[in-house]
Amino acid sequence: MGRLDGRVIIVTGGGQGIGRAFALGLANEGAKIAVADINRPSAESVAAEIGEAGSEALAVVVDVSSEESAKAMAATVIDRWGRVDGLINNAAFFQRPQITSGLIEEIPVDEWDKVMAVNLKGPFLCCRAVIGQMKQQMYGKIVNISSGTVFSGRSILHYVASKGGVTAFTRVLAKQSGDWNITVNSIAPGLTASDPERDEIIYQGRVSARSIPRVEAPEDLVGAAIFLMSSESDFMTGQTMVVDGGAVMR
Ligand SMILES: NC(=O)c1ccc[n+]([C@@H]2O[C@H](COP(=O)([O-])OP(=O)(O)OC[C@H]3O[C@@H](n4cnc5c(N)ncnc54)[C@H](O)[C@@H]3O)[C@@H](O)[C@H]2O)c1
Repeated sequence: MGRLDGRVIIVTGGGQGIGRAFALGLANEGAKIAVADINRPSAESVAAEIGEAGSEALAVVVDVSSEESAKAMAATVIDRWGRVDGLINNAAFFQRPQITSGLIEEIPVDEWDKVMAVNLKGPFLCCRAVIGQMKQQMYGKIVNISSGTVFSGRSILHYVASKGGVTAFTRVLAKQSGDWNITVNSIAPGLTASDPERDEIIYQGRVSARSIPRVEAPEDLVGAAIFLMSSESDFMTGQTMVVDGGAVMR
């Protein structure tokens, strides 16, 4: 028996990296997974991987920054499984070369808008698309992926500002959702080796700042997601779990 048997969970940005690890890990605990991503082939590939491992999955193409697209994603999942128990807002716009600079004088204004649209408006739109269903169920689990950079102040200005927004959004939505037994929490990863094409030296660069001195893998984040999606966390809401090998302590 898995800890998430029968639960229906949407993972945005589930087609690669950390989102893929969430999708596979939650499916392994018995959840039915909607792998929601803007990239159709990667969403389909992860959904197929889950199917081959013996669990149920559905690939859904979504642009989380579009209200219409987020609503369509929720409708597709409800149409297929009749409910939504969990939502992981993981999709984000932050990897280079999409991000051209993190410095205040160099960030293109339209790039600032794009980062906010995907990373901050995206979770708002996806939560809004599923919250009515969760309220009807009198139960739901929302997990927003923030970043340890919010607490260290290190890294790319617009990206970190968007993730600071995610942390604040998590707290306010938690206050607004408790009456329906909906929990809203956040996971803040450290720099994680989610891109196999990125130079290993970049990931090694953060190791010495950690209490557990090694590179962080996407799989290191899965335990926190399983806990926050399970009934074991039903009385915990509005919180941010930092999972970074003990670099940031708060
Ligand atoms: N990798 C890290 O070092 C790190 C550190 C801290 C926090 N995070 C956070 O963890 C999450 C996952 O990171 P990752 O490294 O796996 O990212 P990634 O770039 O490898 O994957 C992001 C996924 O989101 C999808 N996506 C992008 N824009 C989208 C949109 N508009 N609509 C739907 N899907 C969209 C992409 O297609 C991709 O599959 C992000 O929220 C990121 O900010 C990552």
